[in-house]
This record gives sequence, structure tokens and C-alpha cells, in this order.
Amino acid sequence: MNNTHAMLLMMSLMVLGAAVACDTARPAKEAAKDAPKETARETTPAKAAEGHNEEEEHEVELAALMLRMQIHADKLYFAGNVSNWPLTNFYLHELEETLEEIAEAKITEDGFAVSDAVQGFMGKPIEAMEAAAKTKDAAAFGTGYEQMVTACNGCHTASKHGFIVIQRPTRPIFTNQRFEP
Ligand code: HEC
Repeated sequence: MNNTHAMLLMMSLMVLGAAVACDTARPAKEAAKDAPKETARETTPAKAAEGHNEEEEHEVELAALMLRMQIHADKLYFAGNVSNWPLTNFYLHELEETLEEIAEAKITEDGFAVSDAVQGFMGKPIEAMEAAAKTKDAAAFGTGYEQMVTACNGCHTASKHGFIVIQRPTRPIFTNQRFEP
């Protein structure tokens, strides 16, 4: 009987001890979590003053813009491939909007000025496809599209992201949209 009581007491003390330990550990953990945020906040204005945003700040944004380009590049192919020129023009315009957004964001990635490079890579292929859509030239569209894919990968390599490889799509991402005119 006495032994059981003693054991129960010990067990409750252990549970209590663990709870107290957790409680005292929590503020320390929270403080640690806040610490990196503080330093990020401190370094951001200095980097922003250089004219280029800091990596942590834009990282999510650039990848999101790239994903948007990836989707529009996919749809663009299936529009142009069936000579649906109004839809082709629509996606060329969408791509241009995203490229403009990237150019204006003044993004540097691993020391590479992505924003400054964007027109140099993408300008000509987009123009070639625009001309093809205007003259309704399916073959010229195909050539322009290949040039664009090469440009996508050219910048990925230049910005040390050569492991992100774009290719001409083989089937549309979305099956709920019709591309035929
Ligand atoms: C001027 C440079 C540049 C050009 C041009 C460019 N990219 Fe990127 N791309 C990048 C960089 C830099 C990253 C890495 C972004 C990061 O680290 O957040 C990236 C990342 C990506 C990703 C990874 C994001 C994801 O969701 O998987 C995709 C996809 C992508 N690009 C698609 C494209 C496509 C498609 C084109 C052409 C139509 C293109 N990119 C043109 C620089 C470029």
C-alpha cells in the first residue's frame, strides 16, 4: 500500500516536472524562432537600398512568377500548335505581362541579375511568335517556340538553375480547356 502510494507520488512528480520543463522551454524556443526574423528584417533595407531585393524576400515570388510562365508557356504551345491565333496572342500577352513583372522587380538570384536579363533572353522568341501569329505561320510559330524553350533554359543555366529544364510539352496540363479554334 505504502509502496503504491510512493510510486503514484513519484509518477505525478515526474509528470509535473515534465510539464514545468516544457513550460520553461517554450519561451526560449519562441525567442529562438524570432531571432532569425529579426536579422532578416535588419538586413533587408540595406540590400533594398542597393536596388535589388534580398533573396529571402523575393524567392517565393520569383518561383511563383516562373510557375505562372510555365503554365502560360504550356497553353501557348497548344494554342499555336492548332493555329488558334487569337488564343496564341492571348498567351503571348500573358507571358509578356509576367516578364514585365519580373523585369520591374529588380531580382538578383545567386548574384545573377535575373530582372535585367529577362528581356535579353525572352524578347526575340516572343517577337518571333507574335510575328508568326500575325502572318498565321504555323511553322514560324514552332521555330519561335523552340527559341523560347532554349531561352528559358539559357537563363536557368546562367542563373545557376540549370537543373530546371523546360521542354516542348507533349500534352496540355489542363484537360478542361479546349485549344482548337
Ligand atoms: C531571366 C532568367 C529566366 C528566364 C528567362 C526564365 N527563367 Fe525560369 N527561373 C529563373 C530562376 C532564377 C529560377 C529560380 C527561382 C527561385 O530560385 O526561386 C527559375 C525557376 C523556374 C521554375 C521553377 C519553379 C517551379 O514552380 O517549378 C520554372 C518551372 C521555370 N523557371 C520556368 C520557366 C519558363 C517556362 C521559362 C520560359 C518561358 C523561364 N522559366 C524563363 C530564371 C529564368
